[in-house]
Amino acid sequence: MMRNVILVGFMGAGKSTVGRLLARRLGRCFVETDAMITAREGRSIPEIFTDRGELYFRQLEAEALDALAEKHGHVIATGGGFPCGPGVMDRLLQLGTVVWLAADFDAAYARANRTGGRPMLAGRSAEDAAALYRTRQEIYRRAHLSIDTSHLTIDAVVGRIVRHLRDRERRPEAGGASPEAPAPADLAAGIGERREGDG
Ligand code: S3P
Repeated sequence: MMRNVILVGFMGAGKSTVGRLLARRLGRCFVETDAMITAREGRSIPEIFTDRGELYFRQLEAEALDALAEKHGHVIATGGGFPCGPGVMDRLLQLGTVVWLAADFDAAYARANRTGGRPMLAGRSAEDAAALYRTRQEIYRRAHLSIDTSHLTIDAVVGRIVRHLRDRERRPEAGGASPEAPAPADLAAGIGERREGDG
């Protein structure tokens, strides 16, 4: 069964942009948990937050997680808070190859504010947003593959992911347990890899 590729990371890290391009390049379906939720609710994410509050939104995310279990071979972009619910990251690590797009805070924050529609940033100071970012790093860092997107083009990020997937395919005997040795350029760009199955 073809494994999913699941993108995680803070708001503004580029999950949607990278995910769409990655899916196209791999010839896979692209889904976004936020889009699953807005389609189901018939209203936007900011509207859901305003009308029903964050807790309700997190319940919808939990339902979306159950729906993800039905997907195979998809590229899945998650909302920034999606992997942060109790036990969620454990399940994502089972559902596919989890890739953390790890933009630095300033880059992600600026981008998220520029594109807007982020209720988690509305009414939060930059300091509070940075604190949220730091807390979430601890969860995101459990991903199978992490890529610092701050100084990479979208194309380069997609290329790294494709290479990682191909490398895993080529070494099925390792059960995907052998990480590709990062090239020096990757290290400079802050790209790190960890073994799948490390949990
Ligand atoms: C959220 C991130 C958003 C969206 C919602 C909550 C968060 O997705 O799911 O506004 O808690 O970080 P993006 O990461 O695509 O902005």
